[in-house]
Amino acid sequence: MRIIFVAGESSPFVKTGGLADVIWGLSKALVRKGHKVSVFLPFYRQVKKTPDNYQWFDAFDVAQGWRMTHANILYDQRDGVDFYFVESDQYFGREGIYGYDDDAERFAFFSLAVKKAIIHKRFNPDIVHAHDWHAGLVPLMLADAGLKFRSVITIHNPAFQGYFNPMQLGDLTNLASVYYGSGLIRFNGMVSMLKAGISTCDAVTTVSKTHAKELMADKVSFNGIGSVIAGRHSDLYGIVNGLDYDEFCPEKDELIEKTYDINNYKTGKKANKVALLRHMGFTHPNSGQPVFGVVTRLTSQKGIDRILRVIPEIIENRGKIVILGQGEWDLEQSLEWYAKNFPESVKVYIGYNNKLAHLIYAGSDFFLMPSRFEPCGLGQIIAMHYGCLPIVSKVGGLSDTVFSFYDHRENATGFAFDNWDENCFDYSIGYVCNMYGEKKLNPLIENAMKMDFSWDKQVDKYIELYKSLLKR
Ligand code: GLC
Repeated sequence: MRIIFVAGESSPFVKTGGLADVIWGLSKALVRKGHKVSVFLPFYRQVKKTPDNYQWFDAFDVAQGWRMTHANILYDQRDGVDFYFVESDQYFGREGIYGYDDDAERFAFFSLAVKKAIIHKRFNPDIVHAHDWHAGLVPLMLADAGLKFRSVITIHNPAFQGYFNPMQLGDLTNLASVYYGSGLIRFNGMVSMLKAGISTCDAVTTVSKTHAKELMADKVSFNGIGSVIAGRHSDLYGIVNGLDYDEFCPEKDELIEKTYDINNYKTGKKANKVALLRHMGFTHPNSGQPVFGVVTRLTSQKGIDRILRVIPEIIENRGKIVILGQGEWDLEQSLEWYAKNFPESVKVYIGYNNKLAHLIYAGSDFFLMPSRFEPCGLGQIIAMHYGCLPIVSKVGGLSDTVFSFYDHRENATGFAFDNWDENCFDYSIGYVCNMYGEKKLNPLIENAMKMDFSWDKQVDKYIELYKSLLKR
């Protein structure tokens, strides 16, 4: 099959979150199964700065409302995946990736340029697969141009919906107001690019089965988008993300202190733990105390306020916590406060640091992920592979990937607490600290390390879906 991905980010070029890992991991896996995958991305300044041999592929003017903006399409190939970048300095030659006042205009422009490239260069894909709101308009724009390719949209994060004022519809997208009037793209009196994708694609997917159910039930409400998704329930699929085991593998990880596998994890993890504690500047890098790791965006979605609440419990139990991430200012400040006042228990690294992330997975005993909502989550999957036991809230992909000790003694791979009972997380910390040091945790570590979330397994579910759409 010829498959086109349209997304706001993808590794190895640009990453702000798990979306980038999924685009890259899934496209490589599709290529390994013999499919042709073309990924369209914006050519951000960050991508431009990455030294590479970007080749010229196409150039044209994009008419967007009253504007005429020039776009270059650049090309690069990585591991058999074809990448096409939309270059426009005006829209993407900026310091950051998202979060600008004109994001709607930027991604509407991106969508128009992708549409034009697909038509101009006769891509003729079997499947157009849009990811999140950034690409939500593309299938509709193609259909509007008379090209009805089979299409899929994957919702990675329903909290971002790509809104703009309906008065700007023609100005930003060249689409007729009938699409708004009919309700197809109208949401809460605005245009929503995410809704455009949900209502026009042949299939809608999200990144775990439980999250698909949660969305339909509008359990964690995202401005009510659940009702729109429920309207597509017969075309809705939950497919758990895979992990790129080339990048995350304790057996051959060059970024950690000592490689290990399931047969020698005890000595391996111990060496990494001491290295981690030393690296973070603890004066007593004692491997005999429980170490809790956190690698995440520091946002309320990720339950960082919940982590703040359990830090005293960790300190009381003579544990240590190492946190890596960046995000909301007040959360960063509160974490730094703890690090400053409890330097022998709490260490925080604000920023992005891939090497440290690997060391945290390899050197911690437990991985905290108390998210309020989590479509899939990758941290817990990586942690399990490194024999670091996840302690997670029972939501979305966390429920689908972690077998909780509280529910499945035999094949447990971690601990999952009730998302709706705020005290359960505190209780879990005390509980695991009590178990720590006893041999009771070893079977859990071994179960966790044996779990298989490889893309080569997960990709078949997408292939099956694409094939079923082509038969329609
Ligand atoms: C978003 C979600 C996360 C998911 C990732 C990739 O970042 O919050 O749960 O794993 O997308 O699909």
